[in-house]
Amino acid sequence: MRSKITVVGAGNVGATCAQRLAERGYADVVLVDIIEGLPQGKALDMLQSGPVVGFDSRLTGTNGYEETKGSDIAIITSGVPRKPGMSRDDLVLTNMKIVKSVTEELVKYSPKCIIIVVANPLDAMAQLALKVSSFPRNRVMGMSGILDTARFRTFLAAELEVSVEDVAAYVLGGHGDTMIPLTRMATVGGVPITEILPAETISKIVERTVKGGGEIVSLLKTGSAYYAPSAGVVQMVDAIVLDKKRILPVAAYLEGEYGINGVFVGVPAKLGKNGIEQIFEIKLTPQEQEALKKSADAVVELVNIMKI
Ligand code: LAC
Repeated sequence: MRSKITVVGAGNVGATCAQRLAERGYADVVLVDIIEGLPQGKALDMLQSGPVVGFDSRLTGTNGYEETKGSDIAIITSGVPRKPGMSRDDLVLTNMKIVKSVTEELVKYSPKCIIIVVANPLDAMAQLALKVSSFPRNRVMGMSGILDTARFRTFLAAELEVSVEDVAAYVLGGHGDTMIPLTRMATVGGVPITEILPAETISKIVERTVKGGGEIVSLLKTGSAYYAPSAGVVQMVDAIVLDKKRILPVAAYLEGEYGINGVFVGVPAKLGKNGIEQIFEIKLTPQEQEALKKSADAVVELVNIMKI
């Protein structure tokens, strides 16, 4: 039997997620949006690509939540994106209202689902979804670390003129200016990048990674990235639906891991059919640990603004 996945938000991120997921063939997809006709039209269009691409996934577009009933996974992409010059944090008050009501609806119809949050500011919105859903922490997570890590890997591979597949790396921390590309652990074909790239080049790549989302916002002018974010979501969904037990950078609610308690922050986690099955505690240097703590503090500030 195919899984059932709901994608809330039929904008660029949501629609691209729905398309990528339908093309995997392992799930039926329900696309929800408040704009009348938009999710229905996009879902129907995607459905009609099935005979050509070769998938049998059903796609349904809707303005309500009844069709989402019994979803295994729900992806929250709704909310406003950044405009040039805005930080992700500037979106907190607008998007919190949206994410709150969306979560309430999702939970009503799919009390057993796993929620993946993509709306910004990512870590704070994931924390809101956890709170509103009252789900256990293994079933609520955010997608950002895969995206930030993908940017880091892309830039490293381009610099070294090697395949992106041979660049392994992790970006930890919150999805914002405090994120931490772990240069010490980034490797190319197993060789640490610190052995093959000058420190100055690495720090330029780190800087571009941290500002990677903003670079795209300033080019697009009317929205933010969606191809790479949706690819990140699908990697998480693959790990869950196929019970792959992948170790991926995920925004997770920490309860003492890394000395951090009661807040979402990006850490390596094992993803399988139960959602987050384990949080991996890698041994950090005191400097990295300090940076992670600072990143968590930035998320706490946003959580305090939301008063949840
Ligand atoms: C980004 C936005 C979507 O990083 O947060 O591209």
